[in-house]
Amino acid sequence: AVKKRVFSGIQPTGNIHLGNYLGAIRNWVETQDQYDNIFCIVDLHAITLPIDPKELHANVRKLAALYLACGLDLKSCKLFVQSQVHQHAELDWILNCFTPMGWLNRMTQFKTKAGSEMDTVGAGLYCYPVLMACDILLYQTHYVPVGDDQRQHVELTRDLAQRFNNIYNKSIFTLPEAQIRDAGARIMSLEDPTKKMSKSDPNPSAYITLLDDPKMIKKKIARATTDSERVVAFDPARPGITNLLSIYQILTGQSQQEIEADFEGKGYGDFKAALTDRLVETLSPIQQRYNEIINDMAALENLLKQGADDVRPIAERTVQKVKKAVGL
Ligand code: ADP
Ligand code: NA
Repeated sequence: AVKKRVFSGIQPTGNIHLGNYLGAIRNWVETQDQYDNIFCIVDLHAITLPIDPKELHANVRKLAALYLACGLDLKSCKLFVQSQVHQHAELDWILNCFTPMGWLNRMTQFKTKAGSEMDTVGAGLYCYPVLMACDILLYQTHYVPVGDDQRQHVELTRDLAQRFNNIYNKSIFTLPEAQIRDAGARIMSLEDPTKKMSKSDPNPSAYITLLDDPKMIKKKIARATTDSERVVAFDPARPGITNLLSIYQILTGQSQQEIEADFEGKGYGDFKAALTDRLVETLSPIQQRYNEIINDMAALENLLKQGADDVRPIAERTVQKVKKAVGL
């Protein structure tokens, strides 16, 4: 049977963190054999907010190396940089013209990210969900494995595809579905566990990056916000300890009951030490592979070029169908 298409991406805007790993990359790696996968480094999305050009350029390479270091296998996945396939920008213009303003007005992430800068922030931030829809629709994607924060954007993508298909021709776009796991879909900030862990958090202690060394991990976990109850148990009323326990649960594969039993009568210090060990155990091999990959920049550039060459014809087929339908 023909494998279903999976597409997903991450912005090269900063350090990839545990939320990106547990909410996205880890799941991509786990099911890569079952699907026909395309993973993108969405650099066009990264310029929706101000970013230093040198930093952006370096971040793209770092993210590509991290994708591979986390275990994505080029035998099952195509890996490319969004701006190297111009069809994303081309379809974006056309789809923007078919997107009702009211639909974009409802996107909550724009409001959070624009904050009090609503009048001065670039229009690209507002239109970002349309570009994301294009990323997905260009490849006739069936499944989009993402964290919970992207649920609304994948729904918008589906609505846009349906709207376009209804106007022109039912067979233009495949309707995609978000694939959101229960575990890890929303890893919270270590500082304020009512907010999601995010690359754009101004406080670097609020997140663990995939490249943090053992000392740094230990420090950040030690400082992570908990509470004064001192009972190591899952409890929605205590989001700090519950977030740390959820991370521990994914890393160990144990059940909530098993974990609570293991730490019965023990304090937060014992638990935090165990969590630190599991994190170091998980991240050390990724960091080792990362260092090997990033040290051969020519090979990395080559592989990204190959990835773009491989996906471009797929994207071009969709653009041709769309242009013909519209009369362009
Ligand atoms: P960020 O929001 O940190 O800038 P991106 O927007 O590039 O990251 O998201 C990349 C992927 O990581 C998406 O699938 C997103 O849903 C997922 N993700 C981001 N933050 C978290 C989080 N705190 N918990 C789980 N998944 C997350
Ligand atoms: Na996000």
